[in-house]
Parts: sequence; C-alpha cells; structure tokens
Amino acid sequence: VELAVIGGTGAEGRGLTLRLAAAGHRVTIGSREAARGAEVAAGLTTTLASLEAIAERGVIEGKDNASAAASVDVVLVTVPFEGQAEIYRSIKEALRPGAVVLDATSPLATAVGGRPWQVIRPWHGSAAEQARAILGAGPRLVSGFHTIAAKALAAVPDPIESDVLLAGDDDEAKATIGSLVDDIPGLRWIDCGELSAARIAETLTALLVDVNRRYQVRDSGFRVIGREAWGQP
Ligand SMILES: NC(=O)c1ccc[n+]([C@@H]2O[C@H](COP(=O)([O-])OP(=O)(O)OC[C@H]3O[C@@H](n4cnc5c(N)ncnc54)[C@H](OP(=O)(O)O)[C@@H]3O)[C@@H](O)[C@H]2O)c1
Repeated sequence: VELAVIGGTGAEGRGLTLRLAAAGHRVTIGSREAARGAEVAAGLTTTLASLEAIAERGVIEGKDNASAAASVDVVLVTVPFEGQAEIYRSIKEALRPGAVVLDATSPLATAVGGRPWQVIRPWHGSAAEQARAILGAGPRLVSGFHTIAAKALAAVPDPIESDVLLAGDDDEAKATIGSLVDDIPGLRWIDCGELSAARIAETLTALLVDVNRRYQVRDSGFRVIGREAWGQP
C-alpha cells in the first residue's frame, strides 16, 4: 500500500513509518517543512536498510504535509492535539476523494499546559470527531493507535504485544487500517464501533502515560482477552 504519515517526523509517526516500511509498504512522511520530512525519511531509510530479517523493504520519502496527503489513498495523522485542527485545515483540500484517514491524536492536557496523564474534552466529543467536523463527509475517518507506544513501534523487528483499538463509521476503511495493523508483528486490531467510541479510546493514552510513569517504563499497552478466537468482525 502507498500511504502518508502526516506529522511523521514525530515519535509516533516515525515508529509507524518504520514498521509499515518494514512490512513492504511505501510511506511518504509529511511535515510542515518539506526539508524536515526529507531529512527524517533519509534517516529512517538508513535504519530500514540496517535491519536484518526483513522480507520485503518498502520505500520511505519525505514531503510537506499537503503534498504527502495528495499523493496517496491512505493517510495516517500523528500530530499533537494542539496542532491537530491546523494540520487538518492544511491538508483538507489536498486529500483525495474517499481517502482513508487514520487519526491517532490523543487530546492530552499538555495541549493546554496540563499533564500528559490528564485529558481535555474536545467540543465535538473526541479529537477524531473534531477532525471529521473539519474535513466533512468526504474522507473516511478511522481513529486508532492511541494505545501503541512510540517506543514499542521503534523497536523493529521485535513483536508488539498489544491490541490496536479502531473506531470509525466506515467498515471498509476500518478494515483497510486493520490490514496495516496485521502487517506489524504481534499487533492485532479490534473493531470498537463508531467514530464516537474514540471518546473512550483516545483517553487511554493518558492512562498508559501514568502507568509508564509509575513503573518507570515507556511501552505499556493493552491486550483484550479472547481476541484470538474471534476472527474478523
Ligand atoms: N508518542 C507516543 O508514544 C504516542 C502514543 C499514542 C498516541 N500518541 C499520539 O500521537 C500523536 C503524535 O504523538 P508524537 O509523540 O509523535 O508527537 P510529537 O512528536 O510531539 O509530534 C509529531 C509531529 O507533529 C508535528 N507538530 C508538533 N507540534 C505541532 C503543532 N503545534 N502544530 C502542528 N504540528 C505539530 C511535528 O512535525 P513537523 O514539525 O515536522 O511538522 C511533530 O514532529 C499525539 O496526538 C499523541 O498523543 C502518541
């Protein structure tokens, strides 16, 4: 799959880029500065080349956010809540009709000077629903990856013992993101229902931040009991 990671220069975006390129996908990193996107892409390309036991290596390149979004049908957005609205306004016109857009934004209270183990409540109910309010009905929004730590993503090729909670109103779009999840060793995806379920899932990042803090780790996550037996939704 050809995909873009908007805000892919950050911790979560770099990790997702590396994991998905290691699974053979072609990833374009988006940044507010094209040069920064290209620089991070070059660094991750070097990392990818150094990895052993990777069957098929994808390609990583870097562009400005709007150019990255315009070039693909699947767009992952990994930006902090304080910049989320501005970022969606900046890529709205560039997105292809019917594009699948994965939003990983957690509305942590750091956006308003608070602590990362606290959250704020966006007016629309969740960061994902704020994104939908900005983008309108065209792009097919999926919310997810809030419980997958950047540190775990970066530890390629170690498997990640976690479940990815996906919420969205379009089943086909959820399955598209779900198949990317399936390409990351150890990860499984769970259909958590409509986009409004993001109101719950997004806040779990803050819970894990607090767990990480108390246990002096950086990669706690969630497993939902029984998932192996359920098959596809
Ligand atoms: N880190 C984790 O372990 C983790 C886990 C679960 C969920 N999340 C969520 O995933 C999202 C990204 O997390 P992250 O740790 O990768 O964040 P980050 O490193 O702070 O930021 C990601 C990228 O977003 C852009 N950005 C930063 N501040 C911005 C602003 N004010 N306005 C617009 N763009 C801005 C930057 O890219 P450019 O400067 O290149 O444009 C930056 O590299 C957050 O919503 C976070 O809550 C993170």
